[in-house]
Amino acid sequence: MYPGLSKGYDTLFDLMPDIKDATVLDLACGDGAFSRKCLTKGVASVDGYDISSMMIDKAIKDANNEHRLVFKVADIEKLDLPVNRYNVVHSQFGLHYVSDLPSMMNRIAKSLKPGGIFVATSYINSCIDSGLILEKFLEWGPDIGTKVTPYAVMIRARKSNN
Ligand SMILES: C[S@@+](CC[C@H](N)C(=O)[O-])C[C@H]1O[C@@H](n2cnc3c(N)ncnc32)[C@H](O)[C@@H]1O
Repeated sequence: MYPGLSKGYDTLFDLMPDIKDATVLDLACGDGAFSRKCLTKGVASVDGYDISSMMIDKAIKDANNEHRLVFKVADIEKLDLPVNRYNVVHSQFGLHYVSDLPSMMNRIAKSLKPGGIFVATSYINSCIDSGLILEKFLEWGPDIGTKVTPYAVMIRARKSNN
């Protein structure tokens, strides 16, 4: 894990509700650092996907046979996400690689259970504050949280219950 990353995750967890027993999807999960950190919050499972086989190899190695963590190589843009499956969908510094963000957001929305939450971190002036993601969130309702630092923006939104 990069130095300081763990602290960044703490800031992200501050934006989130209790995720004990949650099913989590980690898009562009890299070496799985966030996924592993989710275990300390008592989640039921994390599915992590990354396009880099090197990253996924490291994630699998560092998971140390922990059965709650499942890592696979995949292009998140082409990934067939299961419908109504996750309590939490997360992506840290991953969404700016996606060329069709509205379509990605629709698939993320479908994969979340009602009341599920989406959390993302991205660079300032990138997809999050361009409004593309916010637009989708605003359809869901008013439960939105953000934290802005000099270099990044973090956002949390909750899918409505109906
Ligand atoms: C800046 S890293 C962030 C990794 C991780 N989320 C973290 O915070 O440590 C960006 C990651 O996105 C992955 N990535 C880029 N394009 C992708 C795509 N189309 N599908 C899946 N992963 C992708 C890269 O391989 C890389 O691991």
